[in-house]
Amino acid sequence: MTHLPAHIACSACDATFPIRDLLNLCPKCKAPLLVSYDIKPDPQLRDRIRSRAATMWRYREVLPVSDDANVVTLGEGVTPLLRSREFPNVFIKDESKNPTRSFKSRGMAAAVSMAKELGAKSLAAPTAGNAGAALSAYGARAGLPVFVAMPRDTPQSIIDECREYGAEVELVAGVITDAGKRVAQYIADNGGFDLSTLKEPYRVEGKKIMGYELLEDLDRLPDAILYPTGGGTGLIGMWKAFDEMERLGWIGSERPRMYSIQSSGCAPIVRAFAAHLESAPEWESPQTTAWGLRVPRAVGDRLMLRALRDSRGGAIAVDEAAIEPAAAAMRKGEGIDAGPETGAAMHAYRLLVAQRAIRPDETVVIFNTGANKYH
Ligand SMILES: Cc1ncc(COP(=O)(O)O)c(C=O)c1O
Ligand SMILES: [Zn+2]
Repeated sequence: MTHLPAHIACSACDATFPIRDLLNLCPKCKAPLLVSYDIKPDPQLRDRIRSRAATMWRYREVLPVSDDANVVTLGEGVTPLLRSREFPNVFIKDESKNPTRSFKSRGMAAAVSMAKELGAKSLAAPTAGNAGAALSAYGARAGLPVFVAMPRDTPQSIIDECREYGAEVELVAGVITDAGKRVAQYIADNGGFDLSTLKEPYRVEGKKIMGYELLEDLDRLPDAILYPTGGGTGLIGMWKAFDEMERLGWIGSERPRMYSIQSSGCAPIVRAFAAHLESAPEWESPQTTAWGLRVPRAVGDRLMLRALRDSRGGAIAVDEAAIEPAAAAMRKGEGIDAGPETGAAMHAYRLLVAQRAIRPDETVVIFNTGANKYH
């Protein structure tokens, strides 16, 4: 047993389950399930973790895999935190340095490891692109067959990449929610474990380590975090990590303000936040060149909206026309391989400072969630 004692708990009702069977949404109420650890204060654990090899698995006490032999890894996590040249108090967490050049590596490393540990025979997920590449790579690493469904207009380079990792790829008309329906049908016909965002509890566990790493990188938490948001796994995961870190005795009750960044062409979380809703109705005709953000309906909408409100942060949509110039300026001005999702977040920083929601002297982290190369 490498992790702390843990069980699965529903995010909405009081159902709990042992970590034994592969579970998707809560069998009782269909809400997302999360891993809950029995945590006692352990301030020294921080130093022990820092002394281990530089991958996200150095945080194994708060990752759900029981037997190290089941860890499926390509060396993900512990990415650089780079100070911006343009804004001295802005730091960029460069997730493009992950093995499949996006933060999706982290979630899939955790989820594929757990699928292996709990006996899955095959894996499937819908994707806007990067999650499919990650699942294909980690599936290959685990020796498990992978099926991914993605929108027909996903860049050809990503489609090829998934196939090169040996995955079966199906292209569907529409967006990721349509791909999700195809995956559900595929699993009904062929079996396999569904790794759709927040439809299983373990991708959040991998992504939450970004929150732990921010404390490691800065030795404190930032004042605000800007997160380009689709399904919201990282946002939900980091918010969960901060709670775990407080129970470990590593931080107090302070929290960064969490900001969800979306595009004017697909902003369901921004709209729901502004309207004070608890869930986010589907965005009609989603259109954005930042295809990681083209998620019209998120299973984790309630969890995201709660985290944004509890953190006293917010949600902001960036005009579609501003996204690519902002990403290009980051590549040229910072030398960082920033994708359009990150361009949206960088532009959002300027807007939030102009609106006085963020002061220029506050420490802010922007996630470069994925590389530009494959766009
Ligand atoms: C580069 C990039 N940024 C952001 C996102 C959105 O991530 P999440 O679904 O965790 O909100 C994605 C998802 O596909 C992505 O590929
Ligand atoms: Zn439930």
